[in-house]
Amino acid sequence: MLSRVIHARGLARTFRKKKQEVHAVVGVDLDVEAGEIVGFLGPNGAGKTTTLRMLTTLLEPTAGTATVAGCDLVTDPVGVRRRIGYVSQSGSTYPDARAGEEVVDHARLYGMSTAEATERGRKLFADFDLDGLWERQPKTLSGGQRRRLDIVVGLIHVPELVFLDEPTTGLDPQARANLWQHIRDLREERGTTVFLTTHYLDEADALCDRILVIDHGAIVAEGTPDALKSQVGGDVLTVTVAEPRQVAAVARLVEQLPGAEAPQVLDDRVVGRVRHGGTALVELVRGLDRESIAVSGVESRRPSLDDVFLQLTGRSLRDAESRPAVPGAPAAEEVTV
Ligand SMILES: Nc1ncnc2c1ncn2[C@@H]1O[C@H](COP(=O)(O)OP(=O)(O)OP(=O)(O)O)[C@@H](O)[C@H]1O
Ligand SMILES: [Mg+2]
Repeated sequence: MLSRVIHARGLARTFRKKKQEVHAVVGVDLDVEAGEIVGFLGPNGAGKTTTLRMLTTLLEPTAGTATVAGCDLVTDPVGVRRRIGYVSQSGSTYPDARAGEEVVDHARLYGMSTAEATERGRKLFADFDLDGLWERQPKTLSGGQRRRLDIVVGLIHVPELVFLDEPTTGLDPQARANLWQHIRDLREERGTTVFLTTHYLDEADALCDRILVIDHGAIVAEGTPDALKSQVGGDVLTVTVAEPRQVAAVARLVEQLPGAEAPQVLDDRVVGRVRHGGTALVELVRGLDRESIAVSGVESRRPSLDDVFLQLTGRSLRDAESRPAVPGAPAAEEVTV
């Protein structure tokens, strides 16, 4: 039988400063089962970190209740802390300590012996490609190395539940793939539950059993990556106009295509769903030609999680991303006219 490791109802947090109020999280319901890898996906400022800080007892909720790893968040915060691992978005290592010492000290706080902590720490250093850096001060490590050290610190005490706040931001593709594999192994070998935040759709897609999409402090969708994608039927057509003033005319053309729904306009791009991308492309190009509209690109592709996000919120998650596309991602069918 599955057991529930996170159960939260109506979790909310409002920040108040003088007369200003920020409703960072406005009532989140969450259930995570043991052994699940759950992704918390949302753009900058959506409320991911605030939710995580509440679930890890670092921030008191304004409203709501939660049990985490079997302990009540409010009445037994020590119990929660004892059972979880947490890698914060900003990291938590002391710049002047020694990397290896940081790891061992952290494990000892959780009752591990120095010998056991050193052995496991060395193994994690090897796994995360930090070999040779045991004696180094975190302030002398590169950004990506320091991020990997944060992750080692979060995992050293073998927690049953791990919270990772944007663990792969700043990691190179190999280090990202390495971390994904490590997370999968943890679940496989130890049944560890992982709750991670990300605004990388490919990460959520590749790694997570289930995705919760958060926007403006509330969960707006939830499901497996496939279930979420299948909410968006047909193909997705993206037209980039050459002249921004013609964007409305292009939106009208896209709307008239077979099976089209009201397209979204994002700066110089029109994004619309159509029943069949191939036929729609041909018809669209004819329309553009007829109305003498110049475009710099037309693309038809299968729906992605980004389209799910766009459909739910009217905004593109990619707007929040600064990272270039990952090599090896499915190629788009691109036609330039
Ligand atoms: N201590 C604070 N005081 C005031 N406002 C805050 C505080 N912490 C967070 N906020 C606000 O709450 C909102 C949610 O912030 P949060 O850090 O949870 O977002 P996030 O989803 O983690 O974003 P990111 O992807 O940028 O990390 C933002 O509008 C943020 O400015
Ligand atoms: Mg954050």
